[in-house]
Amino acid sequence: MEKSAEKIVILTGAGISAESGLGTFRDEDGLWAKHRIEDVATPEGFARDPDLVHAFYNARRAQSADASPNAAHTALGELQRSWPGEVVIITQNVDGLHEQGGAEAVLHMHGTLDGALCAACDHRWPAPASMSPTELCPACAQPRTRPDIVWFGEMPYFMEAIYDHLAEADIFASIGTSGQVYPAAAFVQEAQMAGAHTVELNLEPSAGASSFAESRLGRASEIVPHWTGDILARA
Ligand code: OAD
Repeated sequence: MEKSAEKIVILTGAGISAESGLGTFRDEDGLWAKHRIEDVATPEGFARDPDLVHAFYNARRAQSADASPNAAHTALGELQRSWPGEVVIITQNVDGLHEQGGAEAVLHMHGTLDGALCAACDHRWPAPASMSPTELCPACAQPRTRPDIVWFGEMPYFMEAIYDHLAEADIFASIGTSGQVYPAAAFVQEAQMAGAHTVELNLEPSAGASSFAESRLGRASEIVPHWTGDILARA
């Protein structure tokens, strides 16, 4: 009985969407091998060259629109529906594949490609397929439109809620992330302090692999459905 009330908190990264055709960041042919972080993923880069930054995210938005969820995304959606306790999904990904795979209330800590944000007044609205620096904010009419993406040097979203969830976690799983970007890379320690069982599911051991109690290595589309199957078998 008690087991069924266990709370599962899951952190995902680019590796879960790799088999849907979306590139990761730090793999050999990843996005950061082709683009400079400081040019396309910082407020300073955006101030210097908003056209370049919009072009980068417009391309990623188009690529995401063509992508479909894979077996890892749908397995997490199924886990959320079938597990008798709470299943919280936190993602560093800006694509919508978790939602398309049936997951709900996903915490997009690094923002989302679907969102536009006014840098002048903080108004948010749905992003058009192609954004440009000349687009006016529908609320304040200033041409300060940016993608609603969290850049390096900015505070990730939902941090208070995330730390509350981690403090209550019975199981913490990290899926498809290299563990190189904070604060997400330290979530495993938070969960461990809360007494959670910690498990890493990744193609290879991440930078923080030694912090996890359990490791499952392989492609997300294979190891995630196996893992959720094992968890559900205990429900
Ligand atoms: P990374 O590119 O840093 O790491 C992706 C991880 O996924 C690596 O450890 C890969 O080994 C693993 N991987 C690749 N293919 C996989 C597969 N098929 N199945 C399972 N694992 C696979 O991406 P993130 O850790 O998500 O932030 O990067 C974190 C943040 O850094 C991103 O949100 C982004 C980036 O800079 C911002 O842009 C602010």
